[in-house]
Amino acid sequence: TNVFDCDATEVDMETSHDDGIDDGYGYGYGYDDDDRAAGSHPPSRSSRSRSRSKTLVRAGKRRRAAACAHQDADARVHDGEHATTTTTTTTTNEKNAIVLPRTSAPWFSRTLRVDEETPFEVYYKRQHIVREEEWAEFLRYLRTPLPVTFRMNRMASRREEVKQALDASRTFLQNARETRDDRGRVIPPPTRLAWCDGWQLGVDKMSLKFSRNPMLRDLQRWLVKTNNTGVLTRQAVDSMVPAAILQIEPHHRVLDLCASPGSKTTQALEALNANGAEGSASGCVIANDINPMRCYFLVRRCSALGNATANLMVTTHQAQWYPNVNVPVSDEVNAESGGRYPEGSYDRIICDVPCSGDGTLRKNPQIWSEWKPEFAMTLHKLQLHIAQRGAALLKVGGYMVYSTCSFNPVENEAVVAELIKRCGGAIEIVDASDRVPELLRRPGLSTWRVVTMVEGDVVEYPKYEDSQKPSVPIGLKRKFAKSMWPQEQEAPKDAPPPQSRVGVLGKRIMRGPSATSKSTGLEHCMRLVPHLQDMGGFFAVLLKKVAPIPGPKTATKNDKADAHSGYSRTAPKHSYSKVSI
Ligand SMILES: C[S@@+](CC[C@H](N)C(=O)[O-])C[C@H]1O[C@@H](n2cnc3c(N)ncnc32)[C@H](O)[C@@H]1O
Repeated sequence: TNVFDCDATEVDMETSHDDGIDDGYGYGYGYDDDDRAAGSHPPSRSSRSRSRSKTLVRAGKRRRAAACAHQDADARVHDGEHATTTTTTTTTNEKNAIVLPRTSAPWFSRTLRVDEETPFEVYYKRQHIVREEEWAEFLRYLRTPLPVTFRMNRMASRREEVKQALDASRTFLQNARETRDDRGRVIPPPTRLAWCDGWQLGVDKMSLKFSRNPMLRDLQRWLVKTNNTGVLTRQAVDSMVPAAILQIEPHHRVLDLCASPGSKTTQALEALNANGAEGSASGCVIANDINPMRCYFLVRRCSALGNATANLMVTTHQAQWYPNVNVPVSDEVNAESGGRYPEGSYDRIICDVPCSGDGTLRKNPQIWSEWKPEFAMTLHKLQLHIAQRGAALLKVGGYMVYSTCSFNPVENEAVVAELIKRCGGAIEIVDASDRVPELLRRPGLSTWRVVTMVEGDVVEYPKYEDSQKPSVPIGLKRKFAKSMWPQEQEAPKDAPPPQSRVGVLGKRIMRGPSATSKSTGLEHCMRLVPHLQDMGGFFAVLLKKVAPIPGPKTATKNDKADAHSGYSRTAPKHSYSKVSI
């Protein structure tokens, strides 16, 4: 389900199983960075053949790195903010000129093709995800590997260890001396991320890993060691946002619906144990993921948190059918509660749904060539379904974060808008700006387009009905759902009819309560774009349950349509009448 099998987690934790060198599993597609971090080789491979193949891969890597270093002599040189061009073999004209990434990683530069506009660029330019004048900067950052970021453990029991680790890191993190990488380029100094107690380094993970600079090597060793002891966690900065804006407290019941490989779960566990002794919090974290193998990585990762795992439960369920805990979910109860959903029992829910993952381009550059708009369309219904289950499981007064590492409004704003509509006023969008004040972001989109691409040409479907015309191939037709389109706002009932006047250029301008006059709240969604704070692409929105979700009285036409897509409004597919913990 997860097209690029993404999560915004940082990479290569050089555990005893993995020496941190890329072990040959491709980026994305099943084995992501965290899988490797957790030593995630297929279990059938013997350790002997594993180490032999790793040696071969390493030798290949070294050869390629040497070849790349040679090539780089006539490539571009990136020096911090300013790029100095010598000669270039990759660019064809000034318009497409880009700066090669500041990395020694040959795999990254090889995947970049900059002589023609990719479908990704054509599609997102049309969606206006960033302002036109920002576009070049947006692309420049997307073509640069992600800098290493990490956060320090916030658990009370680790405070002393964290202090010692930070003292030991003084030379790398707080040193004012200029540091240069292997090519002599100045590395920007580390930046402190106060809102998540984290740091952003001026260097990407591959450059750090392969560096010959003794200071960078020491830094890498320090990162590996402190990560393995759970004193710090390497995690992409954007991925830290959902747990940060949830403001988890020790007594909270937290449900992480799509949790593996567990970067947000560890954050939630740390927040739960921020005050007392490890494992003494009265709340709990339930981490769920459909993929048991990925859950195994989650458990391994959480084990670094020691006794704090006393507050952790792991399940491998389909999030869209996740059972309510303590509250029996059955038809009788639904009837007893007057056609209402039984109230949820979770104070906080993390709904980090499977997504097309194009926000991880800086980690997974193969997305440039493989990207298709259909990836987002295929996942839209599942994302909506998971979000809806999350909303049903949330306590009244509780908060849920819906997030993806995708730029696509079909996976983001469209899902949120439909969720709000289906919950009939029970779920509201919350402005979370004050919870992460230092975080630079763009507001959610209020309008977007549903488009596909056929042989590089954009085909736009202004309305759902257009996507169902006989000329549209049947396979494609099935991918569309009405909820993908921006919703038309209903004008208030008591409002006077809209008046119109002729504008200066003869264009008719609508006045009075019009289709766009009522705020949808989508502007409070957070769009994280790479060029604002040198991070990955991410989308997050904080939602609050303000009332019980009204249940439908009778089956509607929509229910029948939803049933076709595997979704049922009235009751989950499976009945969990006796589930309790
Ligand atoms: C974006 S990743 C989650 C990353 C995770 N939240 C983290 O921060 O490390 C999406 C996850 O959803 C899982 N998934 C996909 N479909 C699911 C479903 N129907 N129910 C539960 N989990 C699902 C995938 O296995 C994948 O691990």
